[in-house]
Amino acid sequence: MIKNANIHFNHLGTPVADQFDDVYFSNDDGLAESHYVFYQQNNISQRLQNHDRAHFVIAETGFGTGLNFLNTWQQFAAHLDRQHDKQEVQNQHDLSVNKSDNSSVSRLHFISFEKFPIKRDDLAHALKAWPSLHTFSAQLIAQYPINLAGCHRLEFADGRVVLDLYFGDVQDSIDAMSYPCEGVVDAWYLDGFAPSKNPDMWQQSVFNKMRAISREHATLATFTAAGFVRRGLIEAGFAMAKAKGYGKKREMLIGTLTTPTEQQSDPAYFSHHASTLNNVAVIGGGIASSSVMYSLAKRDITTTLFCQDDALAMGASHNVQGAVYPHLQAKNSPHSEMFAHSFLYAKRLYQQLLDDGFDYPHQWCGVLQHAVKQGLADKHQNLADKALWPTELMRNVSATEGDDIAGVNTGYSGVFFEQGGWVNPPALVTALFNKAYSLNPIKTHFNCHIEQLEKTESGWVLHTKTQQFGPFSDVIICAGEHSDQFKQTQALPVVGVRGQVSHVEASEQSKQLKTVLCHKGYFTPEFQEHHCMGATFEKNSKSREVKEQDNQTNREQLLSFYKDSDFATSLGEITAAKAAVRCSFIDHLPMAGEWAEQDDYVNAFANLRLGKRYQYQPLAKPQQGLHVLTGFGARGLCSAPLCAEHLVACLNNEPRPFSERVSQAIHPARFIIRDLIRNKI
Ligand SMILES: Cc1cc2nc3c(=O)[nH]c(=O)nc-3n(C[C@H](O)[C@H](O)[C@H](O)COP(=O)(O)OP(=O)(O)OC[C@H]3O[C@@H](n4cnc5c(N)ncnc54)[C@H](O)[C@@H]3O)c2cc1C
Ligand SMILES: C[S@@+](CC[C@H](N)C(=O)[O-])C[C@H]1O[C@@H](n2cnc3c(N)ncnc32)[C@H](O)[C@@H]1O
Repeated sequence: MIKNANIHFNHLGTPVADQFDDVYFSNDDGLAESHYVFYQQNNISQRLQNHDRAHFVIAETGFGTGLNFLNTWQQFAAHLDRQHDKQEVQNQHDLSVNKSDNSSVSRLHFISFEKFPIKRDDLAHALKAWPSLHTFSAQLIAQYPINLAGCHRLEFADGRVVLDLYFGDVQDSIDAMSYPCEGVVDAWYLDGFAPSKNPDMWQQSVFNKMRAISREHATLATFTAAGFVRRGLIEAGFAMAKAKGYGKKREMLIGTLTTPTEQQSDPAYFSHHASTLNNVAVIGGGIASSSVMYSLAKRDITTTLFCQDDALAMGASHNVQGAVYPHLQAKNSPHSEMFAHSFLYAKRLYQQLLDDGFDYPHQWCGVLQHAVKQGLADKHQNLADKALWPTELMRNVSATEGDDIAGVNTGYSGVFFEQGGWVNPPALVTALFNKAYSLNPIKTHFNCHIEQLEKTESGWVLHTKTQQFGPFSDVIICAGEHSDQFKQTQALPVVGVRGQVSHVEASEQSKQLKTVLCHKGYFTPEFQEHHCMGATFEKNSKSREVKEQDNQTNREQLLSFYKDSDFATSLGEITAAKAAVRCSFIDHLPMAGEWAEQDDYVNAFANLRLGKRYQYQPLAKPQQGLHVLTGFGARGLCSAPLCAEHLVACLNNEPRPFSERVSQAIHPARFIIRDLIRNKI
């Protein structure tokens, strides 16, 4: 569990960490110090104007009050303004100027590691000292995450500024990261308290890992001039020099990575490779495709959507009210980690849409999971005993507390996800699409059923019965239950699970319900005089026809758990229902990554049958440029946005939001690799 920093403010108003007995920044104008030591000594201004990628990545050890981040963001905003002005002038003189000819950076990616996050109130107090940063600090405070270990991806300025805030010890966090062999970091800010007061932050193993995740020629700057830090960084592969320190300080250290490694976080069989991504086709129409179009649009990547229906969200994402909450286990598994961080990211994104005026019906009313059976009560007890999750994410509630929250009498204890709630998925999918469109227009082809995918020399061509489209550099399949219908993806082990939700008339009593209830299924607060009551789970059926029998099943199920509760016994008629097929995999995890062609993987990694010590062949990648984003099962509203972000980050050689273990858990090759290791193929 993450512990907060205990801080106080000294007589000069500078925050001091009690645990370390050290100041967060200089008593003598911390902002000027931050600018000089980290921003200027890494030469960021110049590098933003001429960089080999559209994104620039800074990593920091010790987030503290976020002062370094905020100063860098402010400088970056000024850089964008200057670029914009320059572009306007160029456009006036030469209309043929192409945005993409520009080698100037358009996205700032800031990674920071923090073991003892400052409490939100303390943060707000500390940042009051910098009125010039107010525009930026107010946004940081609004998004400041809860005390959950791992990577919180926060996005600002329409995704032009990304902050990956890792909560946890720097060594644990950096060891858990997923990264490619080219590395991702362009510049380091080493700011972990004085080495004498906090040696943990300045260990050789941290320096070595810094090298692994750095790109060639990455730079570093730090306020300290300690000899062992300098020697350690040299040992790790950085060429080190001394510079004039800030203010009265005589010296500080700067460095450049001269000997990068070819290390990557993953074994070859779980690698993610960069892709071209200059003209992407997305096949879909639901929450997965809107999420990935949003991730692409933020990066100015040209995208075309192909949807077989005449509008968005006519597949599984078509419900009237869908619950948004994570699936958390009583263990710190990749599954729980994926859901916890996906949920927090989705919630921030969905709130941002509303703040930006992209509206959709919703209620952040919390989700209450009732212990309707002894098995569930035991599970909830186990969750309470393990105390793995911050209470802002999930907390156990007694029957009295639960009924108080819900506003109805049930008599069940449970677990409460106070940040959860319900959304109207079609309107949400549309809002997310519109937001993506507002960032970078997307071509759309509705009523367009893609039958075949063809890889040609110039890229991927998509065929309907009568038309063809393309070529595209990349294709992302977000086709839900139909994701396995293409010749290339036939081996995708999709488990289709049909589900029906019934819309039942609200009563005076049921209108008292204030939160989403989950039992074996779910029941939502009243919306448009109705509740959503469901859902059924039926494997091996692809039928989307509404069945009267399923409506009865939904009502009987609700009554079986709430027969003594008048909100359930007083409900009116079922006036409508919706049925669809959820796309799942047997491990109940989604899939995000480049398509893993079975024969190619079996040839390349045949030696896995003998063990992990043997040599592998390189992949031939006959389907290069083909990717999948699907398998969201019964929780796409929670997990699709961050999985989409992870996929695009991998394909664009950017820092990835998921840890290596989560990246592997959702990798398209996972079933093939498991079967090879078990000698089953
Ligand atoms: C009854 C029920 C209740 C649910 N309740 C919840 C809930 O409360 N909370 C929650 O988080 N999740 C819930 N889910 C799950 C959630 O709806 C899914 O996880 C999510 O909708 C999956 O989104 P998707 O974009 O992957 O797939 P879909 O929404 O199914 O989208 C697939 C899209 O692909 C298009 N397509 C397919 N093939 C082609 C092709 N060949 N050419 C062109 N277009 C194609 C389709 O037109 C469709 O638009 C529920 C699901 C069901 C069925
Ligand atoms: C000098 S402060 C950072 C100041 C900060 N950059 C700012 O702009 O306010 C050092 C930070 O490192 C954090 N820290 C100390 N030890 C750590 C560790 N082992 N792993 C991660 N963070 C650590 C502290 O909690 C503290 O917030």
